[in-house]
Amino acid sequence: MFIRNLWYVIAWSHEVGADALFTRTVLSEPILLMRKQDGSLSALQDRCCHRLLPLSRGAREGDAVRCGYHGLKFDCGGQCVEVPGMERVPSYLKIKSYPVVEKNRWIFVWMGDPERADEALLPDNFANDDPQWCNKPGYMHYEVPYLLICDNLLDFSHLSYVHANTLGGSPEIARSRQKIDRLLIPDGRQVGLKVSRRVSDVPPSPYWKSFRVGLRDEMYERWFDYDFVLPGTLLMDSGGRPIAAPDDEARTVRLLSCQTLTPETETSTHYFFQQSCQSADFERAPETVDHMYATLVRAFHEDQDTITAQYRALQATPGMKMHAVPPFDGALGHFRGLVEQWVAAESSASFSQGQ
Ligand code: FES
Ligand SMILES: [Fe+2]
Repeated sequence: MFIRNLWYVIAWSHEVGADALFTRTVLSEPILLMRKQDGSLSALQDRCCHRLLPLSRGAREGDAVRCGYHGLKFDCGGQCVEVPGMERVPSYLKIKSYPVVEKNRWIFVWMGDPERADEALLPDNFANDDPQWCNKPGYMHYEVPYLLICDNLLDFSHLSYVHANTLGGSPEIARSRQKIDRLLIPDGRQVGLKVSRRVSDVPPSPYWKSFRVGLRDEMYERWFDYDFVLPGTLLMDSGGRPIAAPDDEARTVRLLSCQTLTPETETSTHYFFQQSCQSADFERAPETVDHMYATLVRAFHEDQDTITAQYRALQATPGMKMHAVPPFDGALGHFRGLVEQWVAAESSASFSQGQ
């Protein structure tokens, strides 16, 4: 079960070029993205309503798309506007269209009732297009349900073990405790969690040394502060300052990152990510962005290997229960509860509408 009335990231802006017929599946629905001549976007079901050929196999004609099988032509709102050999097009020849928004170099589609599309629910991934921050955009594909990846992102104690040689590097992260609060938007709705963790008296992450030239081996306080927003977007401010000189900016490292999870199907997930360094780091060492990206990809493959192995084990041993370990499972337990609340609210709303 998925929450329908939310925005889901379907693509990076650069993936959808001017003439593209870009297709990706979200919540098991194949969606066609097209950039219109004025640069704005349209999102349509990627199925011709005649014999269901994917329209992404057709051809662009201005702001319209012509099916590659028998030539039905659809406008960017999904209405069929031409049937070869027919003078009048029946109005029932149309396909579903989706509200679509582009923000911070991400393209979002609204998967629920179009009347309820609500931009107050878009995450603020500002570092993606702020000149003070630099990054390289990333994408991975997972063959696991998206909630298992949410679990991973909601408990950073795994940095000590999964990422010992990449992002983590010290067992103190797993021993520290995270603080969890509700994340509310101005109208009072809870849309996620605020999670923060402090780890004191630890060496600098080996990761930082890959982009911050000359970082000393001294003890640091590290911070991990993030919002985790429905459906599965992590917006993180993390870094560390040396305990001996907490105000020394040259020895302080700060990163902003964002990962977002979009279910492709019940058992597969799109994973979009970026980690941004300050422009000053990039100017000091222009290779920084590539270094960061390479380390991140290595680390995210560590996550992928771990979570995929976990998912296979869950499938292979369905009778075996997971046991809660409160210090690790607090945030992910809250988040799963929130997802269930939103799903239940949607199904009771559609039940009462059906009465
Ligand atoms: S399947 Fe598209 S026109 Fe026939
Ligand atoms: Fe991880």
